[in-house]
Amino acid sequence: MLDAPDLPLFIKTLPGLEPVLEREVKFLGGRDVKAVKRGVKATGDIGFVYKANLALRSALRVLVQVKEIPVQNADALYKVMRRIPWERYFDSQATMMVDATVYSKVFTNSLYVAQKTKDGIADRFREKQGQRPNVDLQNPQVRINVHISQKHCTVSLDSSGPSLHKRNYRSARIQAPLSEVLAAGILQLTGWEGHLPLIDPMCGSGTFLVEGAFLAAGLPPNLLRKEFAFRHWKGFAEELLHTIIEGLLSRESENPPTLFGFDKTTAALYKTRQNIRSALLEDRIELAKADFTKFNKREELPEKGMIIMNPPYDLKMEADIPRLYRQIGDTLKQQFTGYTAFLYTGSAEGIKNVGLKASQKTYLPNAQRDAWLVRYDLY
Ligand SMILES: C[S@@+](CC[C@H](N)C(=O)[O-])C[C@H]1O[C@@H](n2cnc3c(N)ncnc32)[C@H](O)[C@@H]1O
Repeated sequence: MLDAPDLPLFIKTLPGLEPVLEREVKFLGGRDVKAVKRGVKATGDIGFVYKANLALRSALRVLVQVKEIPVQNADALYKVMRRIPWERYFDSQATMMVDATVYSKVFTNSLYVAQKTKDGIADRFREKQGQRPNVDLQNPQVRINVHISQKHCTVSLDSSGPSLHKRNYRSARIQAPLSEVLAAGILQLTGWEGHLPLIDPMCGSGTFLVEGAFLAAGLPPNLLRKEFAFRHWKGFAEELLHTIIEGLLSRESENPPTLFGFDKTTAALYKTRQNIRSALLEDRIELAKADFTKFNKREELPEKGMIIMNPPYDLKMEADIPRLYRQIGDTLKQQFTGYTAFLYTGSAEGIKNVGLKASQKTYLPNAQRDAWLVRYDLY
């Protein structure tokens, strides 16, 4: 059961971030780690499950597999679900929800699979305890994940609950903020580990800045989050969780570099400030208003550093994309010799207009939209 030392885990991530997550899971102490499509497989004990939820920057959710079995049809699926000893994992008082994904000729409707699973679980509880958990599709305490590939069924307990991008520091939103998981993944793809000052000249709501400050300080990104589904599992060990949190906090680095954020609008800076404050990172990030196309704050920045930016990438955000990207290229060329700059954008047309030779271009979609991470070494 959940006290096994080698629980089989499937840790989900965004497409393109699998190698980043694989490295993170290894570094955190996961065993039998292997990157697969959209995730990483590993094994670990329940303490590792808690730790993974708190500390992994590029993970969306951590699933603990409870059963892997072939199923021929919906009836068989129901029976499999009814045989799993759910009452050992959670209580009938907990609210629950089933997430199903299907890639199968036999099972074509994920809602039907979720329904059959829920029926099996409910009937099991009724039989064993005389009452069954209620379903809550908005804020369930316990989530069960069913994945069917042809006739192969994997049943998991979702230890995270709400997606792990919900770090609980984002109080203010802007148009087109980056997902926290994507921002943390991009920073790791650049190779930045806090060894150089980091500048985001178009910081929006500050996602790169907050994720970067956590990364540079070695702080777990989900420290502020209160809700984790594992808290509602039987045998949840509050003391173990506290020991793990203390262990993670003891790794905080002593001298993380300062991060700098700019934006041309006061509204964006105001939101960034709010998010930084919620994340308790006020002393690590400096903010100022500046238009990057007429950048006048170069003297206030270190001689060497790294730029990460996510400029407007469609017409809703900026009327003249080619001109904006040309000007971004000019500012980089004229003012940031010695820096490395990374642009993350969904505008292929914009990239063409930067006017600098890219040393690397990585395809990395953003919420199912094409996007690229482009590197410029500014000699
Ligand atoms: C796509 S958003 C960035 C989102 C950000 N990565 C986040 O996660 O919140 C682009 C930002 O660029 C800013 N911006 C646009 N043109 C600018 C310019 N010339 N100088 C500085 N900032 C600019 C916008 O105000 C907006 O906040």
